[in-house]
Amino acid sequence: MQAKSEAVRPDLPEIRTSLPGPRARAVIERDHAVLSPSYTRSYPLVAGSAQGAIVEDVDGNRFLDFSAGIAVVSTGHCHPRVVAAIQKQAARLIHMSGTDFYYENMVTLAERLAATLPGPRRVYFGNSGAEANEAAMKLARYATHRTSFIAFLGAFHGRTLGALSLTASKAVQRRGFGPLVPGVYHVPYPDSYRQGDGAGRMSIEAIERLFRTIVPPEEVAAIVVEPVQGEGGYLVPPAGFLADLERIAKAHGILLVFDEVQCGMGRTGKLWAWEHCGVAPDILTTAKGIASGMPLSAMIARADLMQWKPGAQASTFGGNPVTVAAALETLDLLEESLIENAARVGAHMMERLAAWPKRIRSVGDVRGLGLMIGIELVRDRETKERAQDLRDAVVERAFKRGLLVLGAGENAIRLCPPLLVTREQADFAMDVLEEACEAVVA
Ligand SMILES: Cc1ncc(COP(=O)(O)O)c(C=O)c1O
Repeated sequence: MQAKSEAVRPDLPEIRTSLPGPRARAVIERDHAVLSPSYTRSYPLVAGSAQGAIVEDVDGNRFLDFSAGIAVVSTGHCHPRVVAAIQKQAARLIHMSGTDFYYENMVTLAERLAATLPGPRRVYFGNSGAEANEAAMKLARYATHRTSFIAFLGAFHGRTLGALSLTASKAVQRRGFGPLVPGVYHVPYPDSYRQGDGAGRMSIEAIERLFRTIVPPEEVAAIVVEPVQGEGGYLVPPAGFLADLERIAKAHGILLVFDEVQCGMGRTGKLWAWEHCGVAPDILTTAKGIASGMPLSAMIARADLMQWKPGAQASTFGGNPVTVAAALETLDLLEESLIENAARVGAHMMERLAAWPKRIRSVGDVRGLGLMIGIELVRDRETKERAQDLRDAVVERAFKRGLLVLGAGENAIRLCPPLLVTREQADFAMDVLEEACEAVVA
């Protein structure tokens, strides 16, 4: 509760009611009666409005958003320039379908995205991360005339049947939905905290073993990988891992697909996460942060690969002019200052967080790049036993204090605020989390 004498700070949280408040409770009751029970709500936030990194719920409580609508609102909620771009475009042309007709802003966005990767590129637009990955799978098969894929345990690539075949994050996401696309093989994603210095090597050896035992490399169309694993726990692979993957892929004529749906669009302090290691993919998929909350995704592929015929792949809404206008404004904002801010504030956070695994009993590991930071909660720092209950308790405690965070993987907390978050807001979030991580084992 805000003390009366203090000035109101619109950039920080303020909790005025018990949570959930009365209006939130009423919405939740109606929601539970009519919405699909497959949605995974961690705590009862009912958003009413939002600006920047602050979300106000329907009872007037203000929250600091370190989830960004699952790493989506890269420029913050309702950035005035993004809102203006959407309004202007909505008044001119809402829809025409880029599948059957032409309009200029879709071309402009494709040109700008293509220019962010080396070599001539072509762009396909969809509406979600899953759709971009579906398109990548289809293109990889079409271009290579091969059928199999290698993906990683812990990976999340979406829930449509093709993307789900690549996903290996939680059993509940697959249970009851098989058979999935055949020919998808999973190997461990490197986890330096649990596997030590040899983590990258172990994953590469697992692929080499697959080639010797189960799937001949000449049958593999693509290796699909998140350059920083998102839903699996915000895992940053060791230096050299993506280069090793590239080496294996090249040796066997296999395509390298980077899913940058979560780690792309400036989140790691560079536009693309692959830029940290200099290994550019044959195909890159992006969504989430690309249009600050409007539904848009893109698959950016080497031009020589994207040679499929008219009708082979398309979607009525993909590259809708309003979503594209939001994306163009988002790109401007990212390039002007927000990618740099992500690097700067992220480095400040990591400096402070680095001491936690030594100081706080429940914290086993902290890792991240830019504003994509994971905190892993363990029962015992020696055994590294995963502590999902402690993680859930920290998330809940943070919510009660006005900080929105989400879990990732079995026992990690993910920090993925909008890229315009200030150092002061980051300090507030870390104060809340530090207290919560200590309190859950006190
Ligand atoms: C890395 C990654 N790929 C794909 C997806 C799926 O995106 P969407 O939910 O937009 O289909 C996600 C969503 O969390 C993701 O994190």
